[in-house]
Amino acid sequence: MPRSPAQRIREATALGAETVRREVTRSGGRGPKSAFLNSTIGAYLTEHSSPPDEVLGDLSAVTAALPEAEMQVPAEQGTLLTILTASIAPHRAVEVGTFTGYSALCIARGLPDGGRLLCLDVSEEWTAIARQHWDRAGVSDRIDLVLGPAADSLADLPEEPTFDLAFIDADKVSYQRYYELLIPRINPNGVIIIDNVLQYGKVVRPRSDNPAVVAVREFNRRLAADSRVQVVMLPVADGLTIARKLPSPRSGD
Ligand SMILES: C[S@@+](CC[C@H](N)C(=O)[O-])C[C@H]1O[C@@H](n2cnc3c(N)ncnc32)[C@H](O)[C@@H]1O
Repeated sequence: MPRSPAQRIREATALGAETVRREVTRSGGRGPKSAFLNSTIGAYLTEHSSPPDEVLGDLSAVTAALPEAEMQVPAEQGTLLTILTASIAPHRAVEVGTFTGYSALCIARGLPDGGRLLCLDVSEEWTAIARQHWDRAGVSDRIDLVLGPAADSLADLPEEPTFDLAFIDADKVSYQRYYELLIPRINPNGVIIIDNVLQYGKVVRPRSDNPAVVAVREFNRRLAADSRVQVVMLPVADGLTIARKLPSPRSGD
């Protein structure tokens, strides 16, 4: 019997999760989700950052029981997302790739009064865990979850600037597609945050031909040359890029 789009996405995601798991294991217990930090510095960073609260801690524990657990953003990245969201104060934010809801909860907590977060994912099972914890954290009323292939959900949105913040963290081979769908829907000076842009360092290894690595390497190359945005790539977790949409493509300020 032919596999449904949802099944194919799930299989591709599981493959991505397996790659992450291999890399975390190979790093021999260095900071989770970082191929660049040793365990001492990783622990120091954690100790000198605000700790997750009880709901985030419980959500991590529930997620840790899943075979795909490593897909969740690490705590320090979640804190960074809350800080960035609170600084940007978006009226509307969108997340592409929600999983069990950790990053969404962090973004939702940074929203201003009346701010809304649109979450896009394909998995009913994983986002059921998200919903439970959003309820507990009291943020469900500001989150809209749409299930289905994210490119279709984005394409269904009016093609006009509405969002001040976007976070891309779904299937890596579709990053370029998500970005191109998001750009016209982002307000001037709005930001798009993109996760896993270093692919455990494989983006700089030319012989690494894993489809996700190839796609992210090409995405990074094109983004750096894109005159519509100002871009900074940060070595946070597995690499995080922040792209600010310029008010005018020729403006460099
Ligand atoms: C790396 S996880 C997201 C992690 C999440 N941001 C967190 O902090 O826990 C990637 C997610 O993207 C979803 N996904 C993969 N391909 C997708 C697609 N084509 N459309 C929508 N969601 C997709 C998967 O179901 C998975 O939940």
